[in-house]
Amino acid sequence: MQLAHIILAAGKGTRMKSSLPKVLHPILDQPMILYAVDTSYRVTSRPPVLVVGHAAEHVQAVVGERAEYVLQEEQLGTGHAVKVAMPYVRQRADVVLVTYGDMPLLRPETLRHLVQVHADTQSTITMLSVVLDDPHGYGRVLRDAQGNVVGVVEEVDATPEQRQIRELNAGIYCFDVPWLDEHLPRIQPSPIKGEYYLPELIGMAVAEGRRVTAIPVEDTDEVVGINTRVHLAEATKIMQRRINEAWMLAGVTIMDPQTAYIGPHVQLAQDVVIYPQTTIWGDTRVGEGTEIGPQSYILSSTIGRHVRIFHSVVEHAILEDRVEIGPFAHLRKGAHLAEGVHMGNFGEVKNSYLGPGTKMGHFSYIGDAHVGANVNIGAGTITCNYDGVRKNKTVIEDEAFIGSDTMLVAPVRVGRGAKTGAGSVVTRDIPPYTLAYGVPARPKRRLDEPTS
Ligand code: UD1
Ligand code: CA
Repeated sequence: MQLAHIILAAGKGTRMKSSLPKVLHPILDQPMILYAVDTSYRVTSRPPVLVVGHAAEHVQAVVGERAEYVLQEEQLGTGHAVKVAMPYVRQRADVVLVTYGDMPLLRPETLRHLVQVHADTQSTITMLSVVLDDPHGYGRVLRDAQGNVVGVVEEVDATPEQRQIRELNAGIYCFDVPWLDEHLPRIQPSPIKGEYYLPELIGMAVAEGRRVTAIPVEDTDEVVGINTRVHLAEATKIMQRRINEAWMLAGVTIMDPQTAYIGPHVQLAQDVVIYPQTTIWGDTRVGEGTEIGPQSYILSSTIGRHVRIFHSVVEHAILEDRVEIGPFAHLRKGAHLAEGVHMGNFGEVKNSYLGPGTKMGHFSYIGDAHVGANVNIGAGTITCNYDGVRKNKTVIEDEAFIGSDTMLVAPVRVGRGAKTGAGSVVTRDIPPYTLAYGVPARPKRRLDEPTS
């Protein structure tokens, strides 16, 4: 069996009241549409056909090569949307899934089950239904006295009795492709809204004596469509709970799962501990035994084993094993802290390497620098890396000792084992094993080199 997947995402999402297209609103750190696209890929192992319309270019720019696109210029209804996608499907597949871009909580297992039932029952259409206490906004599933599905009626077209029905059309279908292709052009516009409704096909199939199967979903959360920002917040909570529960079952301690936010592409090792009010986004990886939080924010960083991150912000950085940072450390893009680095309160590191065992305890800024091993960076040290035009580099060699409140005016190099006095303004290179101090700092005396 060849399986294709069409995702409908041409609608405007008026009720979001936003200049951002609905399907680009994020759930955790990822645009809603990418959940549907990832799920599709996990079921079919190939990019889905995405029907785009409103803000099509914007959606395409975000989804990129993860999907194929068809443009539905005018949103004439779900039946019309599937019809415009058929040229991408008819030669390639005999069965096609149809889902929506605004249902991020749908699980791959549920779609696999739908396809399996479709094959097992030899149905022409297999659909998901959902039983809800509040049926508002959904099409109602019509069954005959024997329980066979005979059609779906949209809320606007439903009679008062039909409106009482609690089994609803989830809007997720599996179709036989040749039958679908032949019948899409036969859908008539709805008498009230003039739209071409996809569920019209259910009545047509039944009238031809074909089998239509509806499977009620077990977890009703899966088919929650996002229409408003209230739904968006609900879906975010559900996704947060799913992700956090999966990590807890995999051996991660999350002290307060309500306030821990972990993105869908984060990877955590066993015995990671996450304290309250901590957010871990992007493609961050965290090694075994590392503790993060409380109140920390980590974005797309690589973090080693037994690291301690306390009240800190870490963005696009690398922390090797046994690094300790915080409280109130800020690692910016390109910060790389080697094994055992200690960075205390109110420090900032950007685009710099700090070698193994280096210590930077208090109130320092290190930018565009290469710092060797076992360097001591005194309180208040600053690399003056920007001269107003260019970013310049600072090099501090192994075992150097930078006195408190030293200004390193880049480009500048502090040699191995050199020392600066408190309050120095370093404007010239300091040779190895030399003490320099003053404003501007000048070499004052040679230091003893360690005998090895
Ligand atoms: C649809 C179903 C309804 C079902 C409900 C479940 C129809 C006619 N009705 O109603 O039976 O209970 O889903 O959520 O199918 N879209 C396009 N192009 C269009 C129209 C829609 O791409 O021309 C996309 C929208 O972006 C949206 C999805 O299809 O993601 C659903 O469309 P919408 O108009 O919201 O249908 P519902 O009223 O939710
Ligand atoms: Ca909808």
